[in-house]
Amino acid sequence: MVRLGVNIDHVATLRQARGGKEPDPVWAAALAELGGADGITIHVREDRRHIQDRDLRLLRETVQVRLNLELAAADEIVDLALEVRPDQVTLVPERREELTTEGGLDVLAHRERIRRAAARCHDAGIEVALFLDPEPAQLEAALDLKIQAVELHTGRYANSPEGTARDRELLALREGAAIIGSGGVELHAGHGLNYRNVLPVAELPRMCELNIGHSIVSRALFAGMERAVREMLAAMRGEPPGL
Ligand code: PXP
Repeated sequence: MVRLGVNIDHVATLRQARGGKEPDPVWAAALAELGGADGITIHVREDRRHIQDRDLRLLRETVQVRLNLELAAADEIVDLALEVRPDQVTLVPERREELTTEGGLDVLAHRERIRRAAARCHDAGIEVALFLDPEPAQLEAALDLKIQAVELHTGRYANSPEGTARDRELLALREGAAIIGSGGVELHAGHGLNYRNVLPVAELPRMCELNIGHSIVSRALFAGMERAVREMLAAMRGEPPGL
């Protein structure tokens, strides 16, 4: 069954808007777990614009499912990951120069820095994923590194209008998934997935994990976090939401 990692950064963004204590992403994580999340995903950014070090430390103590930390391949943030020891890190771009045109990590341009960050986490026993566009050259370059997974960037698929354009992007994801599978690493995907577009991605062969934030947190605002997570799990299985 495909795992669901619930990204709770947006809860922290709302808290930071007032600089106070609420809403607390630690509460959001507990409720997401109660709703059936298989993992909690957070992005500690170098500028700490949403998730704070306090959140990371408390979540490490309280999260009982997998904790996935998204981070840039920068020494200071990798040091923090090595200290707190999430179950998984996903290396993502933060600075303009690290981005490909589509938004994944540019392994071809920053190979040495990414290799070093991945190796440091891997050698500390943390699973490593790289967030990449479904671009064959990027995927092939990634397979030479010490990684356990590739998270395919689904933004272009999610932003395409339904019909031929979206079908073309789904095909690119399918081809990317085949390259990842041939390299013997796990297939993850995320960005822009919602209740209506998630199923074809969840059904890609060998899909292991989806990381979804914005649509779940948006629905949680009206339906509550537990229900929003349960309904996403149902959407990933092609089942009606139920209650
Ligand atoms: N995966 C990665 C690597 C991300 O950076 C993000 C966005 O923070 C997500 C998944 C979740 O994207 P969304 O909030 O659009 O569901």
